[in-house]
Amino acid sequence: LAPLRIGVAGLGNVGATLVKILQNDGVELNKKLGRQVVVTAVAARSRSRDRGIDISGLEWFDDPVALAKSDSIDLFVELIGGEDGPALAAVRAALEAGRPVVTANKALLAKHGVALARIAEDSGAQLGFEAAVAGGIPVIKTLREGLGSARIGRVYGIMNGTCNYILTRMGNEGISFQECLRDAQALGYAEADPTFDVEGFDTAHKLAILASLCFGCEIAPNEIFVEGITGISQADIKVASDLGYKIKLLGIAQRSPEGIEQRVHPTLVPKSSAVAGVDGVLNAIALETDYVHELLLAGPGAGGPPTASSVLSDILDIARGTRVPPLGVPSHELTPYRQAPMRAHEGGYYIR
Ligand code: HSE
Repeated sequence: LAPLRIGVAGLGNVGATLVKILQNDGVELNKKLGRQVVVTAVAARSRSRDRGIDISGLEWFDDPVALAKSDSIDLFVELIGGEDGPALAAVRAALEAGRPVVTANKALLAKHGVALARIAEDSGAQLGFEAAVAGGIPVIKTLREGLGSARIGRVYGIMNGTCNYILTRMGNEGISFQECLRDAQALGYAEADPTFDVEGFDTAHKLAILASLCFGCEIAPNEIFVEGITGISQADIKVASDLGYKIKLLGIAQRSPEGIEQRVHPTLVPKSSAVAGVDGVLNAIALETDYVHELLLAGPGAGGPPTASSVLSDILDIARGTRVPPLGVPSHELTPYRQAPMRAHEGGYYIR
């Protein structure tokens, strides 16, 4: 088989880590796949910035859209970020050209996922986004390919590593919110604009994508009730703890006869629950289903290596020729989104 030539747009934390992994592990991957997987071209804002990787031998593009359209690559990886702008233009251009795309961009998918899935299905290109939800946890693969006929009633969990890191350290070490946030940024967990993390929007983007995959509905990020963690004080954490709870920022989506209820807010979880044990930058996604009952997937939710590893798993699937509809079912089979009213039942600000 001819080598799979990869073009990477965006050389931030995740992009640079991905290039490094492919440059270091290329031979091993070649053995596993019987096919070489090589980064041959990159696009980023600055050519000269030191990222700890050698890009001197790679084809350089100033414009990610030109890279996405270039016949010198077989697969386009979008790690630019942002819900519109160059990320959208480049992903769309690659898919329209029938070129497979792998992206970690949850904001883009939350807003344009169904439209992009449609373009991909029409042109026959694969669209992989394992890295967009819960960093290194293979939750998209589990939902698209792993649950057989199980019907999911509720999906909930910790979907933002930055917030979980902040809440954990505020609780364990009594450190201020601002200092924890600064550390999360220095460790490469936070979004370029950390408001997306701490105000809950990043969790909402991921929840909307998960709800679509779980319930076969359109992606509806704007219908979600969102409250972040900026109002949580040390005193809140202390009182919750004295009562036997931890405070976690959860995304929760559940089916009801009236439609789907989606919400993001700080939630009291009993210390004895599985989700309460998931601390630091880890994420956890709980899936409640009829046959498998509750499944909890936990692991690193942010940061260069775990996220790049999920990007790589999509690349390998595409290199192997695996074919699945981006949203699990063909996009014309998605049901229109119907928002159920939010009720103060169990799962309000408390979850078992
Ligand atoms: N800023 C995100 C987080 C990165 O903290 O979870 C992973 O999507």
